[in-house]
Amino acid sequence: MGWLLLVSAMCPGLLQTMLALLLIGLCATVSAYSDDWDIFTYTQEWPVAVCIKGKEEHHTCTIPPGVQGWGIHGMWPTKTGTEGPTSCGTQPFHADAITPILPHLKIMWPNMYADTSVYSFWEHEWSKHGTCASSLNATSTEYRYFSKALDLYARFNGQTILANQGIVPSQTATYDIKTSEAALKKELGVNALIQCTYDHNTSRQVIYEIEICLSKNFEPVDCYPDEGNTSGKRSHHHHKYSSHPHSSCPESYGFYYPPIDGVYSNPN
Ligand SMILES: *[C@@H]1O[C@H](CO)[C@@H](O)[C@H](O)[C@H]1NC(C)=O
Ligand SMILES: *[C@@H]1O[C@H](CO)[C@@H](O)[C@H](O)[C@H]1NC(C)=O
Ligand SMILES: *[C@@H]1O[C@H](CO)[C@@H](O)[C@H](O)[C@H]1NC(C)=O
Repeated sequence: MGWLLLVSAMCPGLLQTMLALLLIGLCATVSAYSDDWDIFTYTQEWPVAVCIKGKEEHHTCTIPPGVQGWGIHGMWPTKTGTEGPTSCGTQPFHADAITPILPHLKIMWPNMYADTSVYSFWEHEWSKHGTCASSLNATSTEYRYFSKALDLYARFNGQTILANQGIVPSQTATYDIKTSEAALKKELGVNALIQCTYDHNTSRQVIYEIEICLSKNFEPVDCYPDEGNTSGKRSHHHHKYSSHPHSSCPESYGFYYPPIDGVYSNPN
């Protein structure tokens, strides 16, 4: 401590600055490992679109025969209005921990990249997002985290939610983003998001993700405020907005929702 006193005597103000920096550093470290998030972004993905994206990234992509609907992409602790936090801890992924729920994960949270290892998708989601959820009892361990995400799938199933509003997979139909997000709101009671991906091969926008925001009690909350209300929350994960302020889907023409067993299935 002697040198600190000496320094502070020589340069008054420097000590305070150093202490302040130390505190800022400490706080930043603590927040990364603690409770610095308020909602989950529960994201499901449409297997057909996953494979469109995957092929463009030169992955081998196959939709496993048991996969008949939306897959979980992830359950992401989110500080409203920001991205993440992410990669919060050092708890390594243990494949053993999820053995009891493996058959369910393979259907509801499938890894469709056939050129990656079986566990790689879950391992990635665990280390990037799951480790940030451990402050909450319901998601405090790897097993609980993955089990919880599976439990929520029944309640927030993308296919059911959309079908209840007449939005069903089709080779030919296109759907309007505003109408579709309004449909989600009717079903969920809150604003949720739909994301699209562009299929260069067919020059089509294809539905890719549904993002539903959930409180720490796993009740739906708004992902963004109603149109015209800028006082509240803002979405986080996708900054490449097109004309629609929240969704990556185009506003001026419709997106496709191609069936899993359609022409897209295994084009290779
Ligand atoms: C914590 O969560 C687990 C798994 O959901 C549950 O079985 C347990 O009762 C919870 N404990 C408390 C104290 O809420
Ligand atoms: C591109 O589309 C054509 C038909 O539209 C199809 O035959 C071909 O397999 C597709 N290629 C890829 C890489 O998906
Ligand atoms: C605007 O958003 C805030 C926060 O989400 C909410 O409390 C408020 O009621 C909203 N106002 C209107 C007019 O929708």
